Amino acid sequence: MDKFIINGGKSLSGTIAIGGAKNASLALMPATILAGGTYHLYNTPQLRDINTMTTLLETMGMNISQQDQSLTIDTKNINSYEAPYEHVKKMRASIYVLGPLIARFGEAKVSLPGGCAWGPRPVNLHIEGIRKLGAEIEIEAGYIIAKAKRLKGARILFDVSSVGATGNVMMAAVLAKGTTIIENAAQEPEIVQLSEFLVKMGAKIDGIGTGRLEIEGVDEMHSTDITTISDRIETGTFLIAGAIAGKIGGKIRLEKCNPNHLGALIVKLQDIGAEIKTGDDWIELTPSEKIKAVNVTTAIYPGYPTDMQAQWIALMSLAEGTSIVTDTVYFDRFTHVPELNRLGANITVKENIATVIGIKKLIGAKVMSTDLRASASLILAGLVAEGTTEVLRVYHIDRGYESVEKKLQALGANISREQGEEF
Ligand code: EPZ
Repeated sequence: MDKFIINGGKSLSGTIAIGGAKNASLALMPATILAGGTYHLYNTPQLRDINTMTTLLETMGMNISQQDQSLTIDTKNINSYEAPYEHVKKMRASIYVLGPLIARFGEAKVSLPGGCAWGPRPVNLHIEGIRKLGAEIEIEAGYIIAKAKRLKGARILFDVSSVGATGNVMMAAVLAKGTTIIENAAQEPEIVQLSEFLVKMGAKIDGIGTGRLEIEGVDEMHSTDITTISDRIETGTFLIAGAIAGKIGGKIRLEKCNPNHLGALIVKLQDIGAEIKTGDDWIELTPSEKIKAVNVTTAIYPGYPTDMQAQWIALMSLAEGTSIVTDTVYFDRFTHVPELNRLGANITVKENIATVIGIKKLIGAKVMSTDLRASASLILAGLVAEGTTEVLRVYHIDRGYESVEKKLQALGANISREQGEEF
């Protein structure tokens, strides 16, 4: 397994371009199940997770090819309605095939996703929502077995706002007979783009971008093309790279991004003292000499994203003062904390609250990636730690960040990828 070697303390400045949103692509790709035809998904990032979704969809008979950032998908010959465990266990988003399969073919056999690096992530809202649309669903030997002649519109309320369940149920409802109302729907930009894609395919959806979606079922849909939105979490991660450099940092400019998707993070970065300028598709950050300690509580969109929680904790480990970071979305997403403490950080966690006592400097060490965003936080810390930091198992970061070391090198970081120990 590859590892990153980072020699910290280099000044960071310069310009990089942001890629397409992983979590938009992972919804748009299975949405193509809903209608036979050829689709072009532009600005699709080249990531492990995209490859995982591609492999899964190809086992169902779809033809998929990616040329740079353009993904071409042919759904004319789907001949299997099954998502086997060996694929689903690699990536929870595989469950997105459930809604479209049951909507178009009336049957689906989808493995329950395993847990993930930071604990159980249930899919009850997906199952209950699709059951409410009239599907018969049994759980058998670790699989979701779903059948339906034709789904019927229903009123559905999500007790917890869920990105995945909103996407899955919406993709089931667009071909149902009658009207579906989804209350407490997720409003993340990736779900907004999925809704827009479905409308381009012929679906009828009102309330896009709000917490209440009204879907008028149609009899059939058609293929179309779309350009994926930029990745707001990749953007946020590089903004924190600029901010954590502090006094040794210079101005960084991120292009092909969408500042409107990052309101909460931009406010927090200004609160710590960073100077931020934005345009239609670019953000510039000039770091402050000192990093003020600022508390963060994650929330569903448009609140501060849980996918930026680990990166914030890395930044706060070098702040002047103590900060409190609370994750209200996932209560146990702190596997990065023990690794950051190996770099000398002073962080304690109680339930879903981390207390970060800022210190003057981090000292390089060997640390282990445990999940995608935890890996990002370790790399951010390594950029400014004194000496050399080795980040192991970087396959985690390759799931969600395209050529991350090349982009950091373009900003002046001393980071290289090496063949790691096999263990
Ligand atoms: C999406 O996951 C993202 N993944 C995650 O990003 C992100 O952390 C998460 O949304 C929250 O923003 C993709 O889009 C592929 P949820 P998802 O359903 O859809 C609970 C990354 O780093 N819940 O919105 O799985 C759940 O336990 C990844 O790119 C239920 O209880 O998240 C959590 O507490 C990590 N029952 C909350 O809802 C359900 O049926 C939010 O989860 C579903 C979810």
